[in-house]
Amino acid sequence: MKITVIVATEKHGVTYQLKEAFLEPLRDSAEITEFYLPKDGPGFCTGCTACIRTDPALCRDAACVQKIEKALLEADLLVFASPAYVFHTTGAMKAMLDHFAYRWMPHRPAKEMFGKRAVIITQCLGAGDSSTAKDIKDSLSWWGISDIRVRTFKLMSEVLWDRIPEDKRNKMTGKLRALAASMKRIDYSRPAHSKLPAKLKFHMVRMLQTSLGKQNPEYIDYKYWKANGWIDNKRPWRQ
Ligand SMILES: Cc1cc2nc3c(=O)[nH]c(=O)nc-3n(C[C@H](O)[C@H](O)[C@H](O)COP(=O)(O)O)c2cc1C
Repeated sequence: MKITVIVATEKHGVTYQLKEAFLEPLRDSAEITEFYLPKDGPGFCTGCTACIRTDPALCRDAACVQKIEKALLEADLLVFASPAYVFHTTGAMKAMLDHFAYRWMPHRPAKEMFGKRAVIITQCLGAGDSSTAKDIKDSLSWWGISDIRVRTFKLMSEVLWDRIPEDKRNKMTGKLRALAASMKRIDYSRPAHSKLPAKLKFHMVRMLQTSLGKQNPEYIDYKYWKANGWIDNKRPWRQ
């Protein structure tokens, strides 16, 4: 089993400890690739739109983005961990997610994503853990992923791991170990089930691409959808 982990901070703080609690039960059976942002991530999107309009290889951060994408596509399980920074994910995580705009369903989603599983872990001091998870979930669901498990935490007392009361730390890590145990039982040779919201998004975009293709059969996203057979009868969750 392969796991790719994206951590929204380089700090070995609370986010890191929670991410470790989740991974620890999986380490003996998984090959784990981790990216710590911003160090291992791309710079800010400049808005050149080359990835959307022509070729993602033209992005100034293409090498880094492609390395992350390869790891995401090869993984059976994707893990995203983030603290809340002013109610949202960190700027570094947002910068990384921006580079995958061209992989959103209205453009050129990777068919592999439809069958993937993902876990999002977020934490905050008092408020913003859910909106932070949503920042990440928005991208993952528009990439086509249906099986997204979210665990959010409010520390309430302290932001330094060692100063958080032990029973609180144990409660949080216990929840993540339980989630890891359930993720370990999954048969990853079978793709995750694509749920109704993903299928509805797909069908809406399919109608859009069909109409755009009538206006311009050379339109890049339409050609991609056509080449995948999605304008016809093929579906990414059946491939
Ligand atoms: C710039 C910044 C903004 C933050 N914004 C929030 C916030 O909006 N709500 C909140 O409850 N905690 C906030 N926090 C606390 C973090 O979510 C987190 O609990 C804390 O940084 C510990 O996590 P870490 O050790 O992984 O960095 C913020 C922290 C930082 C550094």
